Amino acid sequence: METTEHNRTLGRSGIEVSALGFGCWAIGGEWQTADGQPLGWGKVDDEESVRAIQRALDLGVTFFDTADAYGTGHSERLLGRALGKHRSDVVIATKWGNLFDERTRVCDGQDDSPEHLRRALTASLRRLNTDHVDLYQLHISDADPERAAELRDTCEELVAEGLIRAYAWSTDDPARAAVFAQGPHCAAVQHRLNILQDAPEILALCAESDLASVNRSPLAMGLLTGKHTTGRALDHADIRNAPPAWLPGFLANTGADPAWLQRVDALRSILTSDGRTLAQGALAWIWARSPRTIPIPGFRTVAQAEENAGAIAKGPLTAGQMADVDRILER
Ligand SMILES: NC(=O)c1ccc[n+]([C@@H]2O[C@H](COP(=O)([O-])OP(=O)(O)OC[C@H]3O[C@@H](n4cnc5c(N)ncnc54)[C@H](OP(=O)(O)O)[C@@H]3O)[C@@H](O)[C@H]2O)c1
Repeated sequence: METTEHNRTLGRSGIEVSALGFGCWAIGGEWQTADGQPLGWGKVDDEESVRAIQRALDLGVTFFDTADAYGTGHSERLLGRALGKHRSDVVIATKWGNLFDERTRVCDGQDDSPEHLRRALTASLRRLNTDHVDLYQLHISDADPERAAELRDTCEELVAEGLIRAYAWSTDDPARAAVFAQGPHCAAVQHRLNILQDAPEILALCAESDLASVNRSPLAMGLLTGKHTTGRALDHADIRNAPPAWLPGFLANTGADPAWLQRVDALRSILTSDGRTLAQGALAWIWARSPRTIPIPGFRTVAQAEENAGAIAKGPLTAGQMADVDRILER
């Protein structure tokens, strides 16, 4: 299928999706580690989340990314509920690897065994109210590569059994992603990509191995929407208010990192040209970066869903704008 500004193919699987997916982490609501580190984005309104998903469907979005652990099962349940009879019109990506308690909303470890993979898939199918997952993703970003090769082979069995259509690893490490890429039904790498955090090695692997590049944190966790300021604490249950080491751009209890905001400011006029909002410009940079990219911005509201889906029609930045970005960021 031809790649256009409005759609993408999930690598060698041939599965067609809209050029923009919707990331369902934030709508999982509050959850945390056993010692109280927030893993969610604070409180969310479930009815608004359902309306936002349904609005995305109206606007042509056909790709939704979630994980069993988001809100300890809540995100998958909400997505299944919101899609309802439209399940067969969309492509669902979910993830496995984390252990959690749905009742206490605590995530308390990981399990990289093939037995857990099968158990987790059964539970995700039940929560999503479906009989198959389109793209099943390993959520342990730093899993042992030899162990991952076993998981890849188990995924091949699940494809043969009709329980999943394709699989991927959510990792920022090109060497690990290459282990999964050896499986015939591996279709993508999910990895961080945004205008402030490029990923040339993973993009090269995707091109060499005919994989889609599914882009998490395309808005730098909200920084690229322009609404965050420094010196303002976020909700105490928001992971950005107590950022772990892997989450740069926010400082504990004080909101956005001023150095990151300066870079956003320097890019503002390019990103908001041609009638785009800042968030739409950030998505346009990703589409211009490679024909394989599929950004999956998170959302909490119908307004965010409309703004983000509205980026599709505006297409990628031009080659000249891309060069201006590189000049401003000195890369
Ligand atoms: N390890 C993994 O596999 C992994 C890790 C991270 C993410 N992901 C996936 O990638 C998805 C997206 O990444 P992300 O959630 O880290 O961050 P992101 O997409 O960069 O940022 C999303 C957040 O930005 C804000 N936002 C979104 N659209 C907006 C708009 N138009 N205007 C203003 N604010 C807006 C919302 O939060 P506020 O309203 O609260 O600001 C939203 O939750 C996740 O949902 C998840 O599916 C996967």
